[in-house]
Amino acid sequence: MKERFETIRDEALARIGATTDLKSLDEVRVAYLGRKGKVTEILRGLGQASPEERKEIGQRANTLKKELNECLDTRKNTLEEQENLEKVQSENIDISLPGRGIPPGHVHVINQISDEVLDIFSQMGFQVAVGPDVETEYYNFDALNTPDDHPARDSHDTFFVKPGVVLRTQTSPVQIRVMEQTPPPVAVVVPGRVYRVDLDATHSPMFVQMEGLLVDKNITFADLKGTLMHFLHTFFGKDIQVRFRPHFFPFTEPSAEVDILWTARDRHTGEMKSKWLEILGCGMVHPEVFKRVSYDYESYSGYAFGLGIDRIAMVRHAVSSITHLYDNDLRFLEQF
Ligand code: DAH
Repeated sequence: MKERFETIRDEALARIGATTDLKSLDEVRVAYLGRKGKVTEILRGLGQASPEERKEIGQRANTLKKELNECLDTRKNTLEEQENLEKVQSENIDISLPGRGIPPGHVHVINQISDEVLDIFSQMGFQVAVGPDVETEYYNFDALNTPDDHPARDSHDTFFVKPGVVLRTQTSPVQIRVMEQTPPPVAVVVPGRVYRVDLDATHSPMFVQMEGLLVDKNITFADLKGTLMHFLHTFFGKDIQVRFRPHFFPFTEPSAEVDILWTARDRHTGEMKSKWLEILGCGMVHPEVFKRVSYDYESYSGYAFGLGIDRIAMVRHAVSSITHLYDNDLRFLEQF
């Protein structure tokens, strides 16, 4: 009897000592102390033994049970400590590593250019005015002397919010808003977003313009040309090549478009190429426009222009496609 207990004891202790994780340790516990375990079975067989034997077996079995429980607990603590240590080591945090940098933001290239243009015109005495992006057809077209059947009014070109209300296609409606509020003389520049149903390398459905309007006595086309040339020379330098072309706008007469020479990498061949890029429309304010805002067109004259801020950004930075400016790809924007 005594040997049988010792055999079980030695065998159990050896198995406990050999365990390497908590799961196999629990298997050993079940094999000896579980419901069908070896020690449990001995106790269960007590009924068939004689009273003296019963006492001895009972005592031995309980002592063994106690001893095994203690060993299991000790082993469990050791294994738990080991597992914790391994976990901590594998999740090791190196507090000497440098942190992840949070780069500071900066002004978007379009706003940089817009600020620079505003500065140049402010120095010439122009005030800054603004108007709404969602505009009525009246301000965007009618008041600007645009006929009802003008193609620009078509939904192929203009985003309609609802009948009579559009996303402004130009900053020109702010001319009307300013003249309605202010008697002449006026000199304003109007930066703002404009919207058109259009998309290619030089057109984006949303882009940024800057409108200019100057009304006073004896204003001529020479004043317009002189002002624009002064601006272009200040912004691009004296070497910039400029071309004035006659054009038509319903709200100016005569009207012109201005192109400058633009050099950028060709998107298909990769070569540097120069071509004329239209950057603004301009002209002398049409008498019909003055009538709308009750300006005395006999005594006053004025000029107006609408400048593509993104277009001059493309020329300044040799950007090959307007969409780069609005894609918000940081790899592009961080260069400015
Ligand atoms: N609004 C015109 C456009 O977006 C540009 C323009 C042309 C504005 C002539 C003007 C102007 O003020 O006088 O195409």
